[in-house]
Amino acid sequence: MPKVIIPQKNMTLDVEVGSNLMQVLLQAGLPVASSCDGDGICSMCRMKISGDVNPPELYEMDSLKRNKCEEGDRLSCQISITQDITVHTKYW
Ligand code: FES
Repeated sequence: MPKVIIPQKNMTLDVEVGSNLMQVLLQAGLPVASSCDGDGICSMCRMKISGDVNPPELYEMDSLKRNKCEEGDRLSCQISITQDITVHTKYW
């Protein structure tokens, strides 16, 4: 069972393989910025993620670029968790 480690909140979550990162965080009571409800459009849910995750699809890369995200940002709504990861975001 992979873990999502959130140092800023001193939290570690055990999650099912294939869980969506944004949904896991919301279910844990953490706020995740969004105006597209997880459709990969707004880029507000962007985070820095350490650990292996699915590579970004073309539309995620387009969204990150269009919304002028920083190098290394990923959209939490597009992340499927398969291994332990550590996440950071500016607004926590
Ligand atoms: S919630 Fe909008 S891109 Fe992830």
